Amino acid sequence: MVSMPEPPQRLFASDNASGIHPQYLEAIAGANATHELAYGVDRFTQSGTNAFCALADADVDVLFTFGGTGSNILALAILLERAESVLCTEWSHIAVDETGAPERILGVKLQTVVSPDGKLQPAQIVSAVNVLGSIHHTQPGVVSISQPTELGTLYSIAEIQAICQTAHQYGMRVHVDGARIANAVAAMGATRDVFQKMTFAAGVDALSFGGTKNAMLNAEAVLVAPQYRGRRAQYLHKQVTQLPSKMRYTAAQFVRALDDDLWISTATAANTAAQTLFRKTKEFKSLQIDMPAVNSLFPIMHNPAKAKLQEWSFFWDWDINRHQVRWMTSWDTSPADIDAFVGGVATVLAE
Ligand SMILES: Cc1ncc(COP(=O)(O)O)c(C=O)c1O
Repeated sequence: MVSMPEPPQRLFASDNASGIHPQYLEAIAGANATHELAYGVDRFTQSGTNAFCALADADVDVLFTFGGTGSNILALAILLERAESVLCTEWSHIAVDETGAPERILGVKLQTVVSPDGKLQPAQIVSAVNVLGSIHHTQPGVVSISQPTELGTLYSIAEIQAICQTAHQYGMRVHVDGARIANAVAAMGATRDVFQKMTFAAGVDALSFGGTKNAMLNAEAVLVAPQYRGRRAQYLHKQVTQLPSKMRYTAAQFVRALDDDLWISTATAANTAAQTLFRKTKEFKSLQIDMPAVNSLFPIMHNPAKAKLQEWSFFWDWDINRHQVRWMTSWDTSPADIDAFVGGVATVLAE
């Protein structure tokens, strides 16, 4: 049996495994000099809110939160009416990876649709709404999509516009799970203009804006479109347990992120690392890797090679039925990490 080389210093398991960017640690330290009132009545939260409105080019409601799951719950709580359901794909984080939190906390039905590429199609909205008006069915109220999707694919701006247009036509609202929205923006032009076009200008009603996977410390936010302001969002923020008392530390990180768009640079670095990993592993044909759109690759790996590689440097199984795994890069993945990981891949595949 061939022995494995030294494993990479950083993991390819998830961008959640990465460290915090020093600039965010500095921003937290910078918010630490004084006392500030809690629950968002502080100057950092005010600056962060203003910065998000400038980014969105809209007078959005900004609700800073602890986590991505909580952001999704809060966004859905704001958009949903009673007896409504949420339409999402079979891959959506809200349906698969939130331990039933939407069902338990919101008492909502999630209606999942089949999606080989992780994307929801406008035609699936049209099929779902044929129960509108029937008292025997939950009423389709919100369409929730992820950008990028859980399979690392991206909706084009036109596709998001089409989803919003179709949903709105039937009185439905649109939520975007943007746990990795930065990676989508980085991949689609890396500008604020792209962010605006794929979100509120396209007709999105609420966005979960992720920071944690993009180098921040437990920092997320929900942005709500101006037309849904006043939907008692501030009460729901607390009620679904996502109101941080020391909100200034979350807000201060976003102030830093949005100041010079560090959030886009770190996501660009993660995406670029994924491209490099792809270039260096595509020659291993058995992996059947597609070019990554963002910072995740989804190779096919069989045991015993897969198990050996996972034991050496852990990564997650993705679609077990297809023997598909996920490798994910982060803002701080280095060329040396990539080379080390590729060395490990080559070793297990050679056996
Ligand atoms: C697409 C997506 N949405 C939301 C989340 C929220 O995650 P958490 O609650 O772990 O912060 C994740 C985390 O993996 C995710 O991948």
